[in-house]
Amino acid sequence: MIKPATRIEGMGTSIFSTMSKLSEEYKAVNLGQGFPDFDGPEWIKEEAFKAMKEGKNQYGPSNGIYKLRSAISLIDKKYYDLNWNPDDEITVTAGATEALYCSINAFIQSGDEVVIFEPFYDSYTADVALAGAKCRFVTLYKPDFNFKIDELENAINKNTKMIIINSPHNPTGKVFTKDELDIISSFAIKHNLIVVSDEAYEFMTYDNRTHIPIATLPGMRNHTITISSTGKTFGMTGWKVGYAKACKELTNSIQKIHQWVTFTINTPNQHAIAFGFNNFDDYLLEFRKSYQTKRNLLFNGLLDTQFKPLNSFGTYFLMVNLPKNILQNDVEFAIKLVKEYKIATIPPSLFYSKSDEGSTMLRLCFAKREDTLLKGIDILKAYK
Ligand SMILES: Cc1ncc(COP(=O)(O)O)c(C=O)c1O
Repeated sequence: MIKPATRIEGMGTSIFSTMSKLSEEYKAVNLGQGFPDFDGPEWIKEEAFKAMKEGKNQYGPSNGIYKLRSAISLIDKKYYDLNWNPDDEITVTAGATEALYCSINAFIQSGDEVVIFEPFYDSYTADVALAGAKCRFVTLYKPDFNFKIDELENAINKNTKMIIINSPHNPTGKVFTKDELDIISSFAIKHNLIVVSDEAYEFMTYDNRTHIPIATLPGMRNHTITISSTGKTFGMTGWKVGYAKACKELTNSIQKIHQWVTFTINTPNQHAIAFGFNNFDDYLLEFRKSYQTKRNLLFNGLLDTQFKPLNSFGTYFLMVNLPKNILQNDVEFAIKLVKEYKIATIPPSLFYSKSDEGSTMLRLCFAKREDTLLKGIDILKAYK
């Protein structure tokens, strides 16, 4: 047997694959998988067909087509008053996932430490492991998913090189406040750290909460790599068009990795996404409204069940507490729910390294049609 590299020894099958497989096997209502069960906008798909028919089918520039980079730059100027030069401060990647991989591997190496808030999106820990470095965890505590300042302070030492944040936050739906971002940036500046800010759900906030990119805070532009995902913004996760924004020096290093990982991503979809961003304002209004309705429907429906929801102000996820007097942990209980009640959820303990709070909750996704959400609520109401 040829042995794989030791740095991948701890890696197993992700919980998403396991739960999706069980969901299919038991023909369950799937509130586990984190993507819409409805299609993305027709007018953007049409633009992709058009680009293909016009022969825009060859490799584009490694950092993405200019039309898309300049559309991204205009969006950030308009929504956040952030200025990114499309020529050398934006990199279009194969989803936020590739942007994360490139950003982490461009700056992190063996001996370095990376501070990660838990629960975390699981590619962060995998990318740090692939870079041969070590993670330190800072817990976001229920019910509001706040962190303790001293815990963050204690997680930083002379080996720390990076902090990864994610706001709006998967899986909790937390939107980091200005005060929290101020605290994180003060540590980043004091210790000269890079902040990788995963803002994949930047346009999905509810109840008038505002998403604040940490790069907008004083002194943070040159310390931050901001990552986003048009899979989330335009509801077509399978297109895998993501991007990273950072100052010229940081971008230069990100692009060194990107050129050897994918070099460039598919051309026609870049044209379509550029068109989407160039016609964004009306779309965004409708998009937010429809997700606010879905969030309300699921949250309110769950109030009448034994699965009490925790507040979610962003993303398309919310956490629920397990019913009282449950003896199983979240993983065992989620498996029981699929098999016996035919509803799939995600057990979040796998997104924690330090705290065992994850084993007391489940993650539900509300990027679903109304009938799917209603079916899910009915099943959870009937739970005994
Ligand atoms: C927090 C977070 N970051 C990044 C990603 C990956 O995004 P993409 O599909 O664009 O690679 C996801 C996908 O679920 C996510 O939840």
